[in-house]
Amino acid sequence: MTARPDAPAPNPHATEAQVQAALSDNKLAQVLYHDWEAETYDDKWSISYDERCIAYARGRFDAVVPDAPLPYERALELGCGTGFFLLNLMQSGVAKSGSVTDLSPGMVKVATRNGQNLGLDVDGRVADAETIPYEDDTFDLVCGHAVLHHIPDVELALKECLRVLKPGGRFVFAGEPTTIGDFYARKLGQLTWKVTTEVTKLPFLSDWRRPQEELDESSRAAALEAVVDLHTFDPSELEAIARRAGATEVHAETEEFAAALWGWPVRTFEAAVPDAKLTWRYRMAQYRAWLGLSKLDEKVLRHVVPRQFFYNAMITGVKPGGAGR
Ligand SMILES: C[S@@+](CC[C@H](N)C(=O)[O-])C[C@H]1O[C@@H](n2cnc3c(N)ncnc32)[C@H](O)[C@@H]1O
Repeated sequence: MTARPDAPAPNPHATEAQVQAALSDNKLAQVLYHDWEAETYDDKWSISYDERCIAYARGRFDAVVPDAPLPYERALELGCGTGFFLLNLMQSGVAKSGSVTDLSPGMVKVATRNGQNLGLDVDGRVADAETIPYEDDTFDLVCGHAVLHHIPDVELALKECLRVLKPGGRFVFAGEPTTIGDFYARKLGQLTWKVTTEVTKLPFLSDWRRPQEELDESSRAAALEAVVDLHTFDPSELEAIARRAGATEVHAETEEFAAALWGWPVRTFEAAVPDAKLTWRYRMAQYRAWLGLSKLDEKVLRHVVPRQFFYNAMITGVKPGGAGR
């Protein structure tokens, strides 16, 4: 596993002037925000590289491409963050070798390190999804998780995916917020944050209150978050974008309705209180509740609730001209 020697250095401590500039420069905001959170990202989102996250990543992949002829020889991940999606997919046997790429040098550094620790055949590179720095017809699979909604021109990025894919190669993107899902998740999150930070002002609950400077930092991060989160998607519109980019065999899926209605307030509550208050038993109980509600979504609600009401969207498509994998 290697990172390129010419890679830009991470900048985890942006100056106030850089933050101000980032408010009107989306790509700078992406780099500052994600460099800032790179080293703590896995903890913040409970990302691991064990059975739990391997099964989660593979579940997202299989949900949209249930019959892929595995493994792919060479895969590329865009907006890899710390490597959650591709590193776990590789561990589950989806691809033999991979390139983890991201706009944020800090993220590439962490993803490279994670891949190294896992002993996977992976290299890392700083890359903008709108101008992917690889030759045409290079990869068998291009994938990403929670990245499309950060990219200004999604159609251009999908065109770039098709360019670097071999004919018949496939792209798979998961973890994208739907428009309706994002609306209720944000509202529930804002309400939970307000209630938790107000209630914990009560003297007898003061040990449930995070230090004010940490709460202020979270609020500043939320301000940049508003700059980096560019899109939400209607699943049918996402399919139309992929077709306009030139893909065939395009198909979108959605998931998490009850799980999202439960999960977003829980995640926001957890971010608003001191970490030490959240015991292992509490975390396991939340995880089991989320698994149960995900089952309810999958077995029951997806048959009765329209797909645009679910929180997470996934999209796949194939580069024309090959066998289609
Ligand atoms: C929400 S994070 C997701 C990270 C990881 N895929 C995951 O699911 O944990 C989005 C990532 O996309 C990256 N990103 C944003 N804009 C990008 C772009 N134009 N090209 C490549 N990566 C980008 C960010 O730096 C960030 O690491």
